[in-house]
Amino acid sequence: MTTIQEHCCGADMFFNAKTATKEYNKYLKKGPLKATAKVIQQLAGQNLENKSLIDVGGGIGAIQWWFLEQGGQQTTGIDASSGYLQKAHEHATENGWGNKTSFIEGDCTEKYNEVDDAHFITLDKVVCCYPDYKDIISATCEKSREYVSLSYPMDGIISHALRNIGSLYFKIKKNPYRPFVHSVKEIRELFSQKGYERVAHNISFPWHVETYKKVA
Ligand SMILES: C[S@@+](CC[C@H](N)C(=O)[O-])C[C@H]1O[C@@H](n2cnc3c(N)ncnc32)[C@H](O)[C@@H]1O
Repeated sequence: MTTIQEHCCGADMFFNAKTATKEYNKYLKKGPLKATAKVIQQLAGQNLENKSLIDVGGGIGAIQWWFLEQGGQQTTGIDASSGYLQKAHEHATENGWGNKTSFIEGDCTEKYNEVDDAHFITLDKVVCCYPDYKDIISATCEKSREYVSLSYPMDGIISHALRNIGSLYFKIKKNPYRPFVHSVKEIRELFSQKGYERVAHNISFPWHVETYKKVA
């Protein structure tokens, strides 16, 4: 069984500096990817003045840049990939956001205690990287002060088939990283148990994109 440390090392190997540069250049040309744009759309309209964001597995940081451009006060990127964090760090420095951003390498469930609670937490295409959705979502619900937004895969036959192909690919590459398809129903129930209600839902195939608000 792959441990979470091995799993994060695997993520670091796969989401590496080369992938980060490719995605960053694409972002500069075309803006955020489709599911990411939906996350942003769900949060647009919020007053972000004096608000903070933790962007978990934020990759090259598209949500963080949008948040700061809209007047957000502080962002923290927590990512298992050093390559992505490096790219995000460079972008923040180039844009004069050095004092409004911070970047932490590692598994968010272990690193949350190194940062203050945030008003917003985003997990864009991250829960599918994580073996135990209960761990990552529960920790996130406790860490957020107001909103949690996430994109995660639909759980039908096609997603499971794609996941199996993905797992085989990583096995052949001898990379301990594995993709996961979790139960959509159970994820939604967990948010409810944690005192959150869903305030937005979109589909960006094969992703569900949802925003939850803390109510209890
Ligand atoms: C599929 S990429 C998504 C990147 C970006 N959010 C996007 O949508 O383009 C998943 C990201 O989550 C990170 N990641 C995976 N598991 C993580 C964990 N437990 N804690 C922090 N980051 C994690 C990976 O390193 C990678 O950067």
